[in-house]
Amino acid sequence: MNSTVSLQQLIDELEALEAEAAKNIDSAEDSKSLEILRVGLLGKKGSLSKVLGEMKNLSSQERPLIGQRANALKTQLQSLLKDRLELLKTKSLENMLLSQTIDVTAPPSGVKQGHQHPLIEIKNEIIDLFIGLGYGIAEGPEVENDYYNFEALNIPKDHPARDMQDTFYLEQNHLLRTHTSPVQIRFLENNQPPVRIISPGRVYRRDAVDATHSPVFHQIEVLAIDEGLDFSHLRGTVMAFLKAFFGDLPVRFRASYFPFTEPSAEVDVQWRGKWLEVMGCGMVDPAVLEGLGIDSDRWTGFAAGLGVERFCMVRHGIDDIRRLYTNDLRFLEQF
Ligand code: DAH
Repeated sequence: MNSTVSLQQLIDELEALEAEAAKNIDSAEDSKSLEILRVGLLGKKGSLSKVLGEMKNLSSQERPLIGQRANALKTQLQSLLKDRLELLKTKSLENMLLSQTIDVTAPPSGVKQGHQHPLIEIKNEIIDLFIGLGYGIAEGPEVENDYYNFEALNIPKDHPARDMQDTFYLEQNHLLRTHTSPVQIRFLENNQPPVRIISPGRVYRRDAVDATHSPVFHQIEVLAIDEGLDFSHLRGTVMAFLKAFFGDLPVRFRASYFPFTEPSAEVDVQWRGKWLEVMGCGMVDPAVLEGLGIDSDRWTGFAAGLGVERFCMVRHGIDDIRRLYTNDLRFLEQF
């Protein structure tokens, strides 16, 4: 058998190679298979090198003919590979764009907007109502001492009224204030009447926890001192406030006792079919004013202490005060 290869045979091989390569390149579907094709065609051990290797038997006139054709084929295949690669890239970009389009008409998937805690909302609403009545805001410390929390409010040591407010005692005569009433004293120490202030804040009691009691809760203290204030001003202010806050909800004024007011009253409103106490109030006891060096013949006043949680529970029909502190979103999202 003749092992030498003729010029014509090599030309045929190159033409077959060209047809086959063009077909394969055209059907390659990704850059990886294109690369495999490139190595198989143009690599050191690729099909083209193999054909070139067979031309050593050709005559020196024939060799350049094959060399030229092989070079032309090489250039042609390179450009076919390059074009195909670009086409595939464009295609995959198009696919990506198609699959990642943003539907501007779709409903928002939503970052949820938060809102204030119902307790804070109610507190602010009460504050706003009193600001509307001409009251200013005063604040006092949560860590108090015996004098401001009890003594100056006409609650001497061993007075049974101390039992009304089971106290968290701290070291060195300090305690967690059991009500916001000490702010009355602190404010009157530094301000001459006439005064009209409210004082919102946290208070603490060693109460047994139940549906309406918590060891920490919020009060808003109200204090008005002026010439000629009497019980009708207290009642008028309280009723106007309650009407603004609750609308026509039934309210009940009930005679009561607080050491720092005389006379004293408690206010109940309807909550889940029964009466719930929402505030204490009364005419400031002259002994409190005299203790501060204020002439109680000239100045009289009224005071009140509101339980913010209870206003919130009545407004929203909440059955248990503890729901206000557990931060359960299923509960809070209702407001
Ligand atoms: N400090 C009282 C309490 O927490 C509430 C109170 C009653 C406040 C009568 C007042 C008031 O200012 O006049 O139980």
